[in-house]
Amino acid sequence: MIATVPSGRFDSLVFSAGSPFARLTAELADIAPGADPIDLSVGEPHHALPPFVGPVLAAATIDFRRYPAIRGTEAFRKAVAAWLDLRYGIGRLVDPDRMILPLNGSREGLFFSALAAARYLGDKRDPAILLPNPYYQAYSAGAVMANVEPVVAPTDPVTGLVDYAALDPALLSRLVAVYCASPANPQGGLMTRQAWRTLLDLARDHCFLVLADECYSEIYRATPPTGVLEVAAEDGRVDLVVAFNSLSKRSNLPGLRCGFAAGDPDFLDFLVKLRNMAAPQVPIPVQSVAVAAYRDERHVIDNRRLYNEKFDAADRLLAGRFGYRRPEGSFFLWLDVTAEGGGEAVTRRLWREAGLKTVPGSYLAATDAAGVNPGTPYVRLALVDDLATTTTALERLVAALPA
Ligand SMILES: Cc1ncc(COP(=O)(O)O)c(C=O)c1O
Repeated sequence: MIATVPSGRFDSLVFSAGSPFARLTAELADIAPGADPIDLSVGEPHHALPPFVGPVLAAATIDFRRYPAIRGTEAFRKAVAAWLDLRYGIGRLVDPDRMILPLNGSREGLFFSALAAARYLGDKRDPAILLPNPYYQAYSAGAVMANVEPVVAPTDPVTGLVDYAALDPALLSRLVAVYCASPANPQGGLMTRQAWRTLLDLARDHCFLVLADECYSEIYRATPPTGVLEVAAEDGRVDLVVAFNSLSKRSNLPGLRCGFAAGDPDFLDFLVKLRNMAAPQVPIPVQSVAVAAYRDERHVIDNRRLYNEKFDAADRLLAGRFGYRRPEGSFFLWLDVTAEGGGEAVTRRLWREAGLKTVPGSYLAATDAAGVNPGTPYVRLALVDDLATTTTALERLVAALPA
């Protein structure tokens, strides 16, 4: 059973503490790095850009003269629909004109969807939005700004997934939305088909939106993660379901700021009304790059291989330490450093002694109703640099924290 956390705590997480990265900068400001710094804190892919980005952008620059349409270009919507079909085999389900919406990266779409959801399903008493704990900060910021109570759900420490079947029916009836990340950030667990099915059935029974954050969907070790739309397609309906994805992780383009929302056409109509007054449209040249990116899988396969080589290095260097296991998806290490003093102390120590910038797990999670922050034992490391740099970082980590 899930107990709720006073929403004032989230207000202070959003407005006083700020983002985990702002907190980290403040925390490390007075400590000199003990070696050439290696930044493992931000999930910002540093692999090479796909080769077509420059030429496509150059050919499309003339389109910077035009205000883009909030619904995007037809070419963008069709390219995303074709990719969704290639990836999930759901071609017949997706109407590109009504079920695909371009975003300036998935973050703003995740945030704005909380605001839209609160109105779209606005007749609930004591409305709430469920977040996994740890969670991505756009979820809590969205709930806070929507004036809806953010409720954190405990997650499996290994997978980062929530047991939705165990939720209290009284809470379920209050929900306007559930944020669910698969692969989970930071643990990298994947929602199974059955887990999505359970969540979709609950959403329909209790009338809440499933906001599926799938931005790590293409960064996996062996098995492609099941997408929420794949499971929705089994019923031939996408009501109350929206998937969010982007090119940031898939195509090493976090600075392009381009992603999409796909799913429930009625909810997206509603979201479009809000975004059309409040959110920036996605520039047309950016959409042109996205069209090229969604038509190409070679760079994605290469990218995945590079991440998997880094996890091979982690397998060698971290086996038997810090509760390490090779995650099924995403590109993070989530290491239990309780024996070394916990996430905050170890973050300071790794910076001071080894020049490694990591994030304390507690910055990525909320203190729950029992007064426990489930991130406290952990540090998060993003394996976003090349293999040589990543290997150096892991060697320094092991040297700084001997068994
Ligand atoms: C879990 C998760 N969701 C969403 C995002 C947003 O990514 P973007 O806005 O670049 O698509 C991130 C970025 O790090 C993330 O880690």
